[in-house]
Amino acid sequence: MESELLRLKQEAGEALDTVKDSAGLEAFRIQYLGRKGGLLTGVMRQLKSVAPEDRPRLGQLANEIKQGVELRFEEMKTQLGGGMQSAAAGATDYSLPGRYLPFGKLHPVTQVMEEICSIFEGLGFAVAEGPDVESDYYNFEALNIPPHHPARDMHDTFYVTDSILLRTHTSPMQARIMENQEPPLRYIAPGKVYRCDSDITHTPMFHQVEGFLVDKDVSFADLKGVLTAFTHKMFERDLALRFRPSFFPFTEPSAEVDIACVICGGSGCRVCKRTGWLEILGSGLIDPEVLKMVGYDPDVYSGFAFGLGVERIAMLKYGIDDIRLYYENDLRFLSQF
Ligand code: PHE
Repeated sequence: MESELLRLKQEAGEALDTVKDSAGLEAFRIQYLGRKGGLLTGVMRQLKSVAPEDRPRLGQLANEIKQGVELRFEEMKTQLGGGMQSAAAGATDYSLPGRYLPFGKLHPVTQVMEEICSIFEGLGFAVAEGPDVESDYYNFEALNIPPHHPARDMHDTFYVTDSILLRTHTSPMQARIMENQEPPLRYIAPGKVYRCDSDITHTPMFHQVEGFLVDKDVSFADLKGVLTAFTHKMFERDLALRFRPSFFPFTEPSAEVDIACVICGGSGCRVCKRTGWLEILGSGLIDPEVLKMVGYDPDVYSGFAFGLGVERIAMLKYGIDDIRLYYENDLRFLSQF
């Protein structure tokens, strides 16, 4: 019995040395360690029939041999257990630098929005945000646009109910802030706005930054000064500005502001449609009617307001010619910013 055990130990060791893959290892397990008919299992069973005085010694030897074989078997199993583990066992160079995960970035519209806000914060404006789902009152009525006013047509409004809508501009924030605070006020309100419109220069959702200032003796010259300072910072050069008379029900007088074309500098090109100018925002002095509605005395206070389109500014700054690119989520486009 003893010699048979030692022979099996030797044989099992040699057999394990020749195992090359997991199929070979499984064959080995059945041959030596299998519950029924495994060679080692068989010898263990014979222990019953050896002389009682030899049993403890032989039993211990048999157990040691079986455990030794099982241990080597487990080691082989781990080694053959798959490419990853065998690579880890020998082929990993721990001195190599790690693999970096791809970095995410802020969306270009978010980046430009943050830049716009930080320029105005530098000019002393505070930032406030309001709801996207707005009431008809703040979006229109408080801004001097009563029901059936023709100016409502321009807004291509998405209505939720008769009196609730998706805000079509950030101007409702003028009324929301003014009705809760006393002048002097200096605010910007960035956010999403919605209009039922879609082509290469319009998306149904886009971003605006509203700005307004209310105090005693605020004049159009203050508006010009603030917008000039902003544009020069934003486009990193002293572009000419043009204030073109316009109309908004909530400002009087009103002006649309153009900058000298960022592509041709004013001589005329495809981007500015040969005019030399690019429109960037709407603005004006806050209409006395709006001030009255929030309880301010228009004989004491005056203010200016402006609203600019963030996508538009980003398009001009980066030379993007189709607004829809922002929202197609093509990483080849987005990762350039
Ligand atoms: N709310 C206007 C728009 O979306 C822009 C604007 C804001 C005009 C403030 C004047 C003053 O077109």
